[in-house]
This record gives sequence, C-alpha cells and structure tokens, in this order.
Amino acid sequence: MVIMQRPDLKVTIGGWTVKNPIMTASGTFGYGEEFSPYVNLEALGAIVVKGISLQPRPGNPPPRIVETPCGMLNAIGLENVGVDKFISEKIPLFKKYNTDFIVNILGDSVDEYSALAERLDDSPVAAIEVNISCPNVKKGGVAFGVDPKMAHEVTKAVKAKTTKPVIIKLSPNVTDISIMAKAAEEGGADAVSLINTLLGMAINHATRKPRLANIVGGLSGPAIKPIALRMVWQAASAVNIPVIGIGGIRTAEDVVEFLLAGATAVEIGTANLIDPGVSGQIVESLKDYLKHNNIMTVTDLIGSLNTE
Ligand SMILES: Cc1cc2nc3c(=O)[nH]c(=O)nc-3n(C[C@H](O)[C@H](O)[C@H](O)COP(=O)(O)O)c2cc1C
Repeated sequence: MVIMQRPDLKVTIGGWTVKNPIMTASGTFGYGEEFSPYVNLEALGAIVVKGISLQPRPGNPPPRIVETPCGMLNAIGLENVGVDKFISEKIPLFKKYNTDFIVNILGDSVDEYSALAERLDDSPVAAIEVNISCPNVKKGGVAFGVDPKMAHEVTKAVKAKTTKPVIIKLSPNVTDISIMAKAAEEGGADAVSLINTLLGMAINHATRKPRLANIVGGLSGPAIKPIALRMVWQAASAVNIPVIGIGGIRTAEDVVEFLLAGATAVEIGTANLIDPGVSGQIVESLKDYLKHNNIMTVTDLIGSLNTE
C-alpha cells in the first residue's frame, strides 16, 4: 500500500516563506480577530487587513453595498481607524496569533504612502500590500494604479522606507495590466497582487436612482473571476516577481486555476462575506485536492497551464 505523505503547501514571496498560498483579501476580513470564531486564523497562509491610511477615514455615506448578479458592488470609501490606532489597538490583537499579517496601505499622495511604510517598518507585520487604486490628489485625482509612471514612483517611494516585502496591488481598470505589473517590478516590488475591484454601477429603474450613494462602486465576487484569471495570466507572463491572484475565488478548484494561470498565492475576498469560515475550508480542501491528484508540492502547479 502506498501511503501518501502530506503535501507541501509552502510558497515563497520576496524571501518570505508563507505556510500555504491561502490569504484573505483586504476589506473583507476586518483586522482578522473578528473572524476568529469562524476560522482557525493560524491555518491561513496570511491575513491581509483592511486598508490603513495616515489619518482615520469615515468612509462614504450609505447605501454603500449592493448585491449584483454573481457579485456585489461596494463603495465603502476606505473607512479605517488610521495608522496610529492600527498600531496601538489592532496590532496587539493579532500579535497573539502564530500567523502572518499583511498590512494594506492607501494614500492620496506619494508622501502619504512613504510615511505609512516608514511608520510600519518596525511593526510585526510580515509584508506591506500597497493599494494603488486610490486617486492621487496632487495629480488631479487620477488613480496611481492607472498610470505606470505613478505606480512606479509610489513603489519606489515605499520600498525606500521599508525592509519588509512590498506587494503592489494592481487596479484592473486599465487597458494593459502587464504594463502596470512591469512598472511595479521595475520600481522594486517584491510581488504584485491583482485584481482590485472593477468600477461598476447599479441603478434602480423604479426610483431612477443609483443604488449606491457614491453612484459608482467596485465590483467583486464570482462575476469577476474570468477577468481576474486573464489578468493574472497576463501579469505572470510579463514579470519575474510572484503574482498573488484575487477575484471571485470560492473553492480549492478556483485556487488551483489561479495557480495554473501563474499565481504563487491567492487572496479570498467577497466569499468571506457569504461564509465567514470559507478561507479555512479552502485550505483543507486544497490539501485534499493535492492528495487526490498526487501533487506533492503546491508550487508544482504554479504557471503550469497547458495551452496546447
Ligand atoms: C467590502 C469590500 C471592501 C474592500 N476594501 C478594500 C481595501 O480596503 N483595500 C483594498 O486594497 N481592497 C479592498 N477590497 C478589494 C478586495 O480586497 C479584492 O481585491 C476584491 O474584492 C476582489 O476579490 P473578490 O472577488 O474575491 O472579492 C474590498 C472589497 C470589498 C468587497
């Protein structure tokens, strides 16, 4: 009888070894602690916390979430406690868990991003994920993530202020994602993660009003998975740094598809809002998937899409 050993789930991102490729996506998993009744936080590869800015942000007025076919739109407006409270109140909550936390940062100028990176450099977070889908107020409100020059500049500025691995989270609201991935790589990024939400809109025909107070919002969930897979594949073909896949992931099979497209790890987002325990279940079912398919090392799947 052949006894199958336990598959090796470890992956490496910028010199940092992650226990498995399953992470949670920013904004869908609070600061981690809130999900501890539903998921063994220590079983996850990493937890990405809600986006943090220098000053606290109140976010947008409601309604700021609306369900759409196979997905949802959100216009939360990056509500968060600000970096001071994050360090004094949130970090002590997750320090007690033997799991890696990634802080997601956002800013409205290059200076704000670099100040945040500097402030968090001696914190116990494992890596910094930089949300570049935010408007640059000094450049007329154009999002950093749609201009390769600005994406490059913000990456360089963050890298200069931290010794931690830097993950640049790309916006899908661009014509060519590979140009943005390359801009991040050339700026010194250790990895890129993608995709953030796609700009969308929902209208109530009866009231003739937009369903979100902000009028437009970010589309997420299974509806965006084919777009995310295509962009992960394009980005992974364009750069040599690891790619973290995000978008509509709900099952271990979804994870495998992203790894085949070239992702080294994945983040689970909207699925957490449907079932708060799903990220832990995906880790378990990924192990079963590997065992059933005689795959000893999860890294064997990365980029092994058969296009013939
Ligand atoms: C309610 C909500 C809040 C989010 N907040 C953030 C955020 O603060 N920073 C960020 O980079 N992405 C944020 N995102 C985007 C997700 O992290 C993820 O990139 C996106 O939802 C696509 O993945 P999914 O389809 O699995 O949800 C948010 C998404 C949702 C649904």
